[in-house]
Amino acid sequence: MDQVTNALRGDGIALSFGGIKVLKGLDVEFRAGEITGLIGPNGAGKTSLFNCLTGAYRPQHGSITYAGTSLDGLPPAARAGKGIVRSFQHVALCPDLSVRENVMIGVARNYSAGWASAFLPLSAGRKERQDMAAAADRVLADLGLADSADLLPSELPPGTQRLVEIARAIVGKPSVLLLDEPAAGLNNSETRDLMKVLRKLASTDLVLVVVEHDMDLVMSICDRIYVLNFGEFVAVGTPEEVRGNEDVVRIYLGSDDDE
Ligand SMILES: Nc1ncnc2c1ncn2[C@@H]1O[C@H](COP(=O)(O)OP(=O)(O)OP(=O)(O)O)[C@@H](O)[C@H]1O
Ligand SMILES: [Mg+2]
Repeated sequence: MDQVTNALRGDGIALSFGGIKVLKGLDVEFRAGEITGLIGPNGAGKTSLFNCLTGAYRPQHGSITYAGTSLDGLPPAARAGKGIVRSFQHVALCPDLSVRENVMIGVARNYSAGWASAFLPLSAGRKERQDMAAAADRVLADLGLADSADLLPSELPPGTQRLVEIARAIVGKPSVLLLDEPAAGLNNSETRDLMKVLRKLASTDLVLVVVEHDMDLVMSICDRIYVLNFGEFVAVGTPEEVRGNEDVVRIYLGSDDDE
C-alpha cells in the first residue's frame, strides 16, 4: 500500500486567538506506517495542532485531509467515526465506570448497537458487551493492566490512569492515533511498557503521532520528528537530523521548563 496515500495532512494550518497567532501556517504530513514525534517547548502549539486535526479547534486558514479526503468542517465525532482518535494531555476517564468499562467506550464505534445499548439487558447488547469487554481485556493485558480491569480509575496511581486512557484510545483500532504526552506521570517501567505497545502499534496502516517531552522516548521510537516553536516548525527530520539541528539544540538548551 502507498503509505503517503494514508497520510494525515495539514496544509497551511493557521490558528489564532484574539489576535495571538498560535499556529502560523503549518504544513504537516503524518504518514501511516511511521511513528511521528511532535515536540517543542511549553506553549509551542502542539496540543492546539492536535485540536485542529481532531476538529476541536477550527483553524482560520488551511486544510486538513486524511487519505486524500478533506476533513474540513467535520466535527470531532465525525472525525472519530473515521478512526481519528486522540488521547488528552490531562487524564479524562469516567470516574464512575470501571477501568474495563472506560476502555470499552473506545471500542464502541466498531459495534452496531453502540456502547449504551451494550449496558442494557437486551440479547443483542449482551453479546456486544461480551465482545467489547473481551477486546478491552486484551488491550489491558498488553499494557500490563489485567489486574486493574475491575477497579475504578481513582483506585489507580496517576501513571496507570494514563495507560488506561491509552488503552481506550487504541482498543478501537484507530486509523490515526494522536497521543498528547502519553508518558507524562509514568514511571520507568510503565514508560517501557508504553514504548513496547507503541512500537507494536506502528503497523503499516496506522498514522501514529506522539507529543512528548520525554526525549529518550521520542528519540528511540520515532521515525520522524517535527519540532514546533512559537507556532512554527523549526526542524523536521529523523531523530539524528533533529538532534543535530542547531536551532533545536538552542531551543532546548535555552528553555529550562522542559525536561
Ligand atoms: N482555547 C484557547 N484560547 C486561548 N489561547 C489558547 C487556547 N488554546 C491554546 N491557546 C494558546 O495557544 C498557545 C499554544 O498552546 P498549546 O496548549 O497548544 O501548547 P503546547 O505546545 O501543547 O504546550 P504544552 O507543552 O505546555 O502542553 C499557548 O499560548 C496557549 O495559551
Ligand atoms: Mg500541550
